[in-house]
Amino acid sequence: MSFIKEKEKFIENKLNELGYLNESVQILPSSKKELGDFQINTAMMLAKKYHKNPMEIAKEITSCLDLEFVNVNIANPGFINFSFQDESLLNYLNNGILNFQNLFDKHPEKLIFLDYGGANAAKALHVGHMRSANIGEALRRLCNLLGYKTISDVHLGDLGRQAGMLISEIKLRNPNLAFFDENYQGEYEKVNYTSKDLGEMYVAANIAANKDPKRMEEVREITAAIDSGNKRYLALWRQLVDISCVEIKKVYDELNCHFDLFEGELDSFKDIPAMLEVVNPFLYESNGAMVMDVKLETDTKEVPPLIVIKKDGATIYATRDLATIYSREKRFHPDEIWYVVDSRQGLYFEQVFRASYKAGLVNDKIKLLHLGFGTINGSDGKPYKTRDGGVMELGSLIDLIGIEIEAKIKEEIQENREEIKNKLTIATLKFADLMSNRQTDYIFDPVKFSSFDGKTGPYILYTSVRLKSILNKSEATNYQITTINNQEMKNIFLKILEISNVLNRSFQDKSLNYITDFLFDLASLFNKFYNNYHILTEPDIKIKNSYLGMTKLVSNVISNLLNVLAIDEVDKM
Ligand code: ARG
Repeated sequence: MSFIKEKEKFIENKLNELGYLNESVQILPSSKKELGDFQINTAMMLAKKYHKNPMEIAKEITSCLDLEFVNVNIANPGFINFSFQDESLLNYLNNGILNFQNLFDKHPEKLIFLDYGGANAAKALHVGHMRSANIGEALRRLCNLLGYKTISDVHLGDLGRQAGMLISEIKLRNPNLAFFDENYQGEYEKVNYTSKDLGEMYVAANIAANKDPKRMEEVREITAAIDSGNKRYLALWRQLVDISCVEIKKVYDELNCHFDLFEGELDSFKDIPAMLEVVNPFLYESNGAMVMDVKLETDTKEVPPLIVIKKDGATIYATRDLATIYSREKRFHPDEIWYVVDSRQGLYFEQVFRASYKAGLVNDKIKLLHLGFGTINGSDGKPYKTRDGGVMELGSLIDLIGIEIEAKIKEEIQENREEIKNKLTIATLKFADLMSNRQTDYIFDPVKFSSFDGKTGPYILYTSVRLKSILNKSEATNYQITTINNQEMKNIFLKILEISNVLNRSFQDKSLNYITDFLFDLASLFNKFYNNYHILTEPDIKIKNSYLGMTKLVSNVISNLLNVLAIDEVDKM
């Protein structure tokens, strides 16, 4: 159990003995540091509930506290302030040196299924896909740290207009391919395109189709044919998806994303008939389409019916999501399914979830959650664009930050320079992406985000390099903190005591900003200490060892939390 939690439980037990049953106590950092490191406001809360004088209750509580609580005092109208004995603090912190896991509380077992990434096959990833990948991956790692089991799936967008576009373009350029011969019976040859070719052909098709309605009609027909299982087109399209996945997987590798499943909308095809059997009794016809009512009496804004089958008989995004929910439940029985997808799909997910519960695709014990996120904006407050107004592709963004970073890495670092640059670039992007609350939009500022100073990824990595370099130089092998020698040191320890709360809040809100804030605070506190004290040349051996123990502890904490954010460390920078 974490130190703070243990002390909270201690006070809760004492309250039980005093007759205040089943109360919960929260130990908070004191708002008046001169009165103590911590405070509880329990006396005021109980006073209201039990109609008693808060000062009286405060006295009752303080008389029960044991020797680990020191400098206990009561302030009007009933705040209890205190600090903890150094020895008990150090015991907990030294356990944290041995194992980071000793610093926080584990959660009950649950299986959480995470759907994030969501790249679209044969199209470049854009900045929104990055946000889904960054948040989703970090949430997955946070879940694992807290003891949950997880399964992650990318839910690739491998069906839609882009399929029709590409195939119509290939048909134009190579009409003699077997895929376009209705009478062909044999095996299909392997096509020889690169991912770059696909990108180029997609652009060409897009321009042509937007000019020529006949071409657009063809695109629509091919897309619909794939949807209804046309073997020839499907055979070609699957090859194109595979080609584009090679590229997509490379990007996810760069972003340190791990997917247990790399499935997509196409994979859900096989589950559509079984899903429809469950959903059918709830469908009715509307303008030729098959739809389902999902509004509730309590709605304050209109929730339109969910279209499940289009009027031409084709499936849509929703059909595939319903089939996917059906299959995830059948195969894995998760307790929760989380969708890390742009907030602008909020209404859509509300409809899909309501439909799933209503038709009984999942029972209502399963939690379906849409974890929407805000957009990444330019300085004009509108979604981030390239200079010429196009969609910002992730690749271009990575290049842009890479240039900023390259200019800042120390001149003398030549060995592995490229690798260091790449890691710092991803660290910059991830930290910036995770430090604003998940639900808010933020303005992308390449210069600020890539700075080696301030609340940035590179600053945290810079601190981590410093910590490791001190530890290397010290050649210590055994770490033990035996004394808290000054206020700067104390402040670092008090910060570390917050860790359990930080992780819990991140988990509660499904937002990583509490962790980025914590990392920044801890790094700043350590750097402040470093500027005031000399660790390696400290003459008093007991003090020096304690400094080194603290350095090791801070290094452990920072490494482990960076790992949650899926940010790699570097050796030098
Ligand atoms: N491919 C979709 C997009 O680019 C995101 C997929 C999200 N996941 C899902 N199960 N619908 O918008």
